[in-house]
Formats: sequence, C-alpha cells, structure tokens
Amino acid sequence: MKFVECRDYEEMSRRAAHLIAACVLMDPDCVLGLATGSSPIGTYDTLIEWYERGDLDFSKVKTVNLDEYQGLSGDNPQSYRYFMNTHLFDHVNIDKNNTNVPDGRADAQAECARYDRVIEALGGINLQLLGLGHNGHIGFNEPAEVFPKDTHCVALTQSTIDANSRLFDNIDEVPRFAYTMGIRSIMAAKKIVVVVSGEDKSEIVRTAFTGPVTPQVPASILQMHPDVTIVGDRAAFSLLRGN
Ligand code: GLP
Repeated sequence: MKFVECRDYEEMSRRAAHLIAACVLMDPDCVLGLATGSSPIGTYDTLIEWYERGDLDFSKVKTVNLDEYQGLSGDNPQSYRYFMNTHLFDHVNIDKNNTNVPDGRADAQAECARYDRVIEALGGINLQLLGLGHNGHIGFNEPAEVFPKDTHCVALTQSTIDANSRLFDNIDEVPRFAYTMGIRSIMAAKKIVVVVSGEDKSEIVRTAFTGPVTPQVPASILQMHPDVTIVGDRAAFSLLRGN
C-alpha cells in the first residue's frame, strides 16, 4: 500500500484528483468506480475545475458507484444518485447513460443481481475511489463474519446510521438498509484510491491498514490488493507515524 500524506483536505483532494485525472487522460473510456460521503467532495470539485479549464474530457468515461440507500429514488436529495449528479455529473460532460448507481427503489434481489451484471458488462473497474467508514466499512460493506463478495442488501450498523444522520433532518429518516457493491468487485479494480480526512478517522486508518485482515474491518482486505493508494491528511494519518 502506498500512503500519500497531505497537509490538509484541499491537498488530499488535489492528490486524489490527480490519480483519477491520470486514469481518464491515459484511457478516455475508462471505468471509474465512485464513492459518496464528505471525503471525496473536494476531489470531485477539483475534477470539475480541471474539466472547466479544458484539461479533462469525460465524454467517454463510464462510472459505477458503490452503493445506494434502499427505498430512496434518484431525485431524493439524500440519495447517492442525487449526490453524484449534484457533486459531479451535472458539472462535467459525462453522458448520464454511462453512469451507474444502484436503484434504491428496485427489489433488492433483482437489483443486486442486475448491478453485478452491469459491472461485469463494463469489463471491471479501472480505478475505484473509496472513502472509509468509522467502523472500517467500504461502500456499505459493514463488519461481518465473512467478506461479502457480490452486490448485496445490507442492514446498516448503528454507528453508520449515527454517522450518516448528520446529513438527514433527523435520525429516523436515515434508511436502515442499503445496496452495496461487494468486496469482489472492489478488489477486482485495477487501481484503488482511498481518501481519508480528519482526526476522527485516525484510529480506523491505523486499524484497517496496519492491523489484521479481517471481515470485522472490511477495509483491511485492501492490504491484499496490489495497487492501493491511501491519500490522507495529517490528522487522519496521525496514528500511523512511528509505525
Ligand atoms: C458512507 C458511504 C461510504 C463512505 C462513508 C464515509 O457510509 N456509504 O461509501 O465512504 O460513508 O463517509 P465520509 O467520507 O463522509 O466520512
């Protein structure tokens, strides 16, 4: 694993955007695996800036997002489809038909199976961008007894519900279930970039990336991937120093 330590959120965003931009420049019809959450927002802002400057062209890029809340439609401002539209897709020349987010309104079993077929038809993911949950989740792969391989419907843990409630009017509105890409698709990505920011992530950064590989800490599996770059700010890396 490669660790890129940055001064702050802004530098972290720029460094992660560089890796994504390099992928798009080298391979204009690449498949990007994308994430939601507050960590990648600055990365998307930077990509938009470079697009506006004329340095990036998304017209042939295809994307596949990690996850979606069950029950939310794409026009619900809390949905991840809405997040992606407003934070990236609406601001660059990507063809929305080439963007994929699980459909939170569709039947769980059928939608999860469909999503795996979509990923397969795209031929896999060139670069997967990830955030990191406080309990080590990636996408919505929550701590479990085994690493879930395929896209599946997951019951969110209380810590995830609590963490994500900041984005809802009240905690009762946070959906209890979500559809998430499985660990197999994430691990099959050629390149993985993780963005982590803030002291509140420092403990899980240390546990996930220097501790044992276990499905109780889903992100720990990334230690086994041949091309992972963790881009983080000083605060998130603070407990790694001296290791
Ligand atoms: C959510 C998302 C994850 C994301 C995580 C961390 O639960 N499903 O994909 O990585 O939150 O979010 P943040 O970057 O806001 O800390």
